[in-house]
Amino acid sequence: MKILIKNIGQLINCSETAPVYRRGGEMKTLPLIENAWLAIENGLIADFGEMKDWPGISDWSKLEIIDAEGGFVLPAWCDSHTHTVFAATREGEFLDRLKGLTYQEIAEKGGGILNSANKLSLMSEDELYEQAYARLDKLKELGTGAIEIKSGYGLTVDAELKMLRVIKRLKENHPITIKATFLGAHAFPLEYKKNHRGYIDSIINEMIPVIKEEGLADFIDCFCETGYFSPEEMTEILQAGIEVGLTPKVHVNQFTSIGGIQAALNSQALSVDHLEVMTEEDISLVAKSECAAVGLPSCSFFLGIPYAPMRALIDEGAIGVLASDYNPGSTPNGNMNLVLAMGCIKQKMLPEESINAITTNGAYAMHLSKELGSITPEKIANVIITKPMESLAYLPYSFGENMISQVILNGKISEEIS
Ligand code: NIG
Ligand code: FE
Repeated sequence: MKILIKNIGQLINCSETAPVYRRGGEMKTLPLIENAWLAIENGLIADFGEMKDWPGISDWSKLEIIDAEGGFVLPAWCDSHTHTVFAATREGEFLDRLKGLTYQEIAEKGGGILNSANKLSLMSEDELYEQAYARLDKLKELGTGAIEIKSGYGLTVDAELKMLRVIKRLKENHPITIKATFLGAHAFPLEYKKNHRGYIDSIINEMIPVIKEEGLADFIDCFCETGYFSPEEMTEILQAGIEVGLTPKVHVNQFTSIGGIQAALNSQALSVDHLEVMTEEDISLVAKSECAAVGLPSCSFFLGIPYAPMRALIDEGAIGVLASDYNPGSTPNGNMNLVLAMGCIKQKMLPEESINAITTNGAYAMHLSKELGSITPEKIANVIITKPMESLAYLPYSFGENMISQVILNGKISEEIS
């Protein structure tokens, strides 16, 4: 099957060869062609060029032709941090916060992650799968073409494995490219509050061996935070994951800076995520490293906490990434178009930087640089076609307006969206 998209206003982030990531000042670079065409064949990007060099096609009948009518074409969004598998929404806690409680106070009362874990323990694998599949369908319409999904609402051997098996089935069946992260170290279950050793032993000796055996995860995560896992506890858990081939990607510095960044870098983490509370030293350590700096602006928006200092991180040279953190507690929304806009509006990133952060660099933060993240020959044909617009800046500027008209994943065209 061949698809030819013509009359593209701007073909964004297209290049014959693609960088693994763009860091610091490079993030302002976003190669583009105005008035372009794009050819897709057998699910992959085949070729592109300017309309004035429209390819001579002898046999039009074998082609599906899409007229973009001046709309822009971009690589589909790469969302490198989500908790898309969950059993129930938590708007009750949202009301509690509106009445004055903080996220941490709700968690201390047994709400938060433990609330989600209770609900998840009661739900069947099939139902979790159906619900998560439906969420992914919605995200696909919003332009997400690759996503990372974490466990972490299980917190028992059985329930963590149940979550990871759901993610594995989603991987096998959903058109979005999916990566799985084991987040058994998301919170200490109540019965282990005073016995951290017991829960960490269960992660290392009971969960990780089965994850290895069944090939259930690509990455290992840990919520390193006051009241959750200490940097030392995180280091031990990540090390056990590394030994079975899992790459660390971690939650650090959401509420406090307790040495999580340094510990994550020592464990060769692929990304450090959240970063709402950063010291000067934290910023410069991440900025100089190969570890992606992942900001989650919709979490900051929803909880009313500081935004990750993406401007300072990028100015110091970081590999800047933005992701949704889609989850029922701190970010009940996986819309990457809003994330793109918030990167600009709240974190002072330029549209080019924000787009690099959710395409090229988002793919890097999921070990998907070879396959996705840019419009490059031989990469998977995951692209977004927008409604006609005058400039790239219109995307973040028109925050909340859905500018997507069509999404193509794996070279397959979705129904026209509006
Ligand atoms: O990334 N901070 C830790 N984990 C999630 C929220 C989990 C929850 O509240 O359910 C996050 O924000
Ligand atoms: Fe998260």
